[in-house]
Amino acid sequence: MERRTVIIDCDPGIDDSLALMLALASPELDVAGITTVSGNVPSDQGGKNALKILEFMGRMDIPVYQGAKVPLKREYISAQDTHGEDGLGEAGIKEAEGGKVLPDGVEFILDTLRREKQVWIIAIGPLTNIALALEKDRDAFKTLEMFISMGGSDKSHGNCSPVAEYNYWCDPDGAAFVYENLGRPIHMVGLDVTRKIVLTPNILEYMKVLDKETGKRVGAFVEAITRYYFDFHWAQERVIGCVINDPLAVAYSLKPGLCGGFAAYTAVETEGISKGQSVVDRMNIWGKTPNSYILDQVDEAGFFALFLSRLYGCEEEKIRPVLRQIMVSES
Ligand code: RIB
Ligand code: CA
Repeated sequence: MERRTVIIDCDPGIDDSLALMLALASPELDVAGITTVSGNVPSDQGGKNALKILEFMGRMDIPVYQGAKVPLKREYISAQDTHGEDGLGEAGIKEAEGGKVLPDGVEFILDTLRREKQVWIIAIGPLTNIALALEKDRDAFKTLEMFISMGGSDKSHGNCSPVAEYNYWCDPDGAAFVYENLGRPIHMVGLDVTRKIVLTPNILEYMKVLDKETGKRVGAFVEAITRYYFDFHWAQERVIGCVINDPLAVAYSLKPGLCGGFAAYTAVETEGISKGQSVVDRMNIWGKTPNSYILDQVDEAGFFALFLSRLYGCEEEKIRPVLRQIMVSES
């Protein structure tokens, strides 16, 4: 199997943690390193949380680097109201034994791009680190083969304002700079598709059945860190369950066929009431060369089949019939 070198830039964060778990359970991805950016939680706390996930997954071999502490220009506003003060749903997950968070996440990104060929970057937090790296050495990005960003939205309403999604709202200048300067298509895994990826109580119950069958503790761990997130979703959106945005970005890197979309020129607003909005020119009114591939279709059942089969190391065929039963009953 062809393994690809991947950097995961994240702000763990509950759904970031699920994304890391999926990536670490997928042999196609050679995770060169994890960089954290201030978003859901400050980047130092994100680093500690990344180590906790690595320890849970038995992958303390993967380095974690702390990146930017604040957005490029804006005042930093975390999402600890959604992810808990500690960023892992205040589930009391203990600090990882051993391992340490290294400094200079931005430098790590540049070093990896300079050293490796055909690097993939999966960015599932604000784009501050990517913007800083791009500003520092744009040429280094010539070896970048694929850039996937969980962020933005086209037709779906925002989650931080009527039009803005958190990652691009938290650092609109960073996002705008990356969209203007990356020089290769940004695969935007936005709210239009991630809102359809809802971890429900029934899916969690199935994960706990799989725990018993496999002797793993994945379902118990996921339940522990998502409890806070479930409560937030009920309080904010009267949803039973929680939208897990970030793992879809990783699933898309593994199976692009899970999603559909279209090429378009996209810009990110940095000022005023629509700050952080991803403005998608789907009708090419501006006549500019597309800089993004906007996802607007997703196979939800296909996502969960992949997610669970990787986390439990079993065939998707085993998972699909039960998922069908669950998702049909929920539709
Ligand atoms: O808007 C959702 C995104 O913002 C997710 O990546 C979540 O983890 C937060 O970073
Ligand atoms: Ca995130």
